Amino acid sequence: MTSPASVVLVFLDPAFPAGRLADASQPQLMATDQGATRGDGVFETMLAVGGAVRKLQAHLDRLEGSAEALDVVIPGQDQWRAAIGTGVAEYRAQHPAPSPAEDELVVKLVATRGVEGAASPTCWVQVSPVGAAARRQRETGIDVILLDRGYDSGVAERAPWLLMGAKTLSYAVNMAALRHAHKQGADDVIFTSSDGRVLEGPTSTVLLAHLETSDDGARPVKRLITPQLDSGILPGTSQGALFTAAKAAGWELGYGPLEPQDLLDADAVWLISSIRLLAPVNHIDGKEIGTPAIQKQLTAELNELFAGIQ
Ligand SMILES: Cc1ncc(COP(=O)(O)O)c(C=O)c1O
Repeated sequence: MTSPASVVLVFLDPAFPAGRLADASQPQLMATDQGATRGDGVFETMLAVGGAVRKLQAHLDRLEGSAEALDVVIPGQDQWRAAIGTGVAEYRAQHPAPSPAEDELVVKLVATRGVEGAASPTCWVQVSPVGAAARRQRETGIDVILLDRGYDSGVAERAPWLLMGAKTLSYAVNMAALRHAHKQGADDVIFTSSDGRVLEGPTSTVLLAHLETSDDGARPVKRLITPQLDSGILPGTSQGALFTAAKAAGWELGYGPLEPQDLLDADAVWLISSIRLLAPVNHIDGKEIGTPAIQKQLTAELNELFAGIQ
């Protein structure tokens, strides 16, 4: 748990061009804010390393896209950048990192539809430490269960009002799925569609790798695959950035459709996201995935590629 004492809040406020610092241990939201009463709003969760937010442009673009999907008009990217700068600098001044390796922060952007009856959104930046579990799971890997999300893989196109590809504040279902997994002794979840496709984790994108040999048998081929982006999942900024880096490093890329058997047949599977980064999947529904040595080697290779992403 993060205590309010180790959270820095910066509200976007036209009267404060660099953002308005606020006390996270005191109430700051109106009880009628539609973010609180309806989960009506959007967010982003980003990682700052050494004071610099990684993939900032991709996150700001996705925040804008999510807000557009909800018809919420949010401040421009410059205002977000200014408030992020203020929040990260304030946090690092209050809590200097004990070592460069621990100089990692969670930077969350939130924009709600605003107070009922008012026309402007409520927007803030929240800076807090990275949780121990996220750091640990990068190393130890995770056990995952498959859970049916109950929608088919064509739902995003057929029913855009379900906001499947937007990062909305309505994450109660995602959190319930995680609690369900924890009660079963697992760490995380991979959602499947009602027509049997692999989708995503509640807070992460699914990746799998295959080691193959080229058709002429002359060279090894490494293939990195993720579910189809149009199957009702959130496009991950980590997956997008890693795919670009992996392609440049000679990996072949693929986009679903994937079925659960493809996960079981893979040489390695990961859940990837901005804070936890690559979490190797050790077991799915109790079945071992890949072989530990290959998983370790591929994870190290992809971690190195990912570390080069700004
Ligand atoms: C549903 C969902 N899918 C995927 C991701 C991974 O996105 P990113 O890599 O941009 O953190 C997240 C991140 O929170 C998510 O909530």
